[in-house]
Amino acid sequence: MSATLADICRRDQQRLALALGLSEREARLEVQLLLGHVLQKPRSHLIAHGESPLEPPIAGPYEALLSRRLQGEPMAYILGRREFYGMELRLSPAVLIPRPDTETLVEAALSRVPPATRCAVLDLGTGSGAIALALALQRPQSQVTASDISPDALRIAQANAHRLGVPNVAWHLGDWFEGLGGRFDLIVSNPPYIPARDPHLDRGDLRFEPPHALVSGPDGLEAIRRIIGQAHRHLGAGGSLMLEHGFDQAQRVRDLLAAHGFEDVCTFPDLAGIERVSAGRWQPAGAPTAAPTVP
Ligand SMILES: C[S@@+](CC[C@H](N)C(=O)[O-])C[C@H]1O[C@@H](n2cnc3c(N)ncnc32)[C@H](O)[C@@H]1O
Repeated sequence: MSATLADICRRDQQRLALALGLSEREARLEVQLLLGHVLQKPRSHLIAHGESPLEPPIAGPYEALLSRRLQGEPMAYILGRREFYGMELRLSPAVLIPRPDTETLVEAALSRVPPATRCAVLDLGTGSGAIALALALQRPQSQVTASDISPDALRIAQANAHRLGVPNVAWHLGDWFEGLGGRFDLIVSNPPYIPARDPHLDRGDLRFEPPHALVSGPDGLEAIRRIIGQAHRHLGAGGSLMLEHGFDQAQRVRDLLAAHGFEDVCTFPDLAGIERVSAGRWQPAGAPTAAPTVP
């Protein structure tokens, strides 16, 4: 006789908890999400129909997903989706899994783009499109440009834009600012910022994510240096550059911004109080100090 959904939940939550060091609660949620994914039913169905058997045609695909998870593959890649800033984004291993920390960058960016203004915003290294799409949805009158060096990432980001019905994003393939013309009111980026030999790269989700989305030279700051070094050529007077960085990089990023002539250099903490996003304003000598938004 086939095991019931409730039996499977009990059995596999223990296997997952043991294999991945999850709490019972986290492991139960993951088993329910995997079962729900193969059954194409919400979690509430599993709870309401716990005594239903898991039929053999479904058991095989479920076991395949469970075994991927037992090897440590992130849920977001197995399910092919992740929620970010209230949007459901589709993902593949070609893109970084958007993190809640990055919502700090979105919030900080929104504080510099007043609603009902037409700002030109650039998101460098857009990956799944998480930041660009959140900003474009929150500020529909603004025009967002999103770029990445990875064609696979851009395809995923464009598909997310299409599915979410976001019209005000232009997509660009290139190496940071390469090929981008015009000037922007706001440039944001969550670039790779992990040092090449960081031991965290061998642990958890990071083992499965694309290295070019994570690693940036020996100290993790190579991409940030390049972006800060070139940003002034792409910012309008009074425009802002905002960068997500590692928990221990804020002071170095502030120093880099100041050394390149940025003003009002500051850092925004994430919800855990960790310095997560640093920013500066570009004010060319002799330019008026008002932000260059077009009402
Ligand atoms: C940390 S991920 C951020 C992805 C997404 N913005 C997010 O926050 O979830 C960094 C992104 O930068 C892109 N990237 C790496 N090197 C790049 C380069 N030289 N030029 C443009 N994009 C680059 C990667 O492909 C990756 O999508």
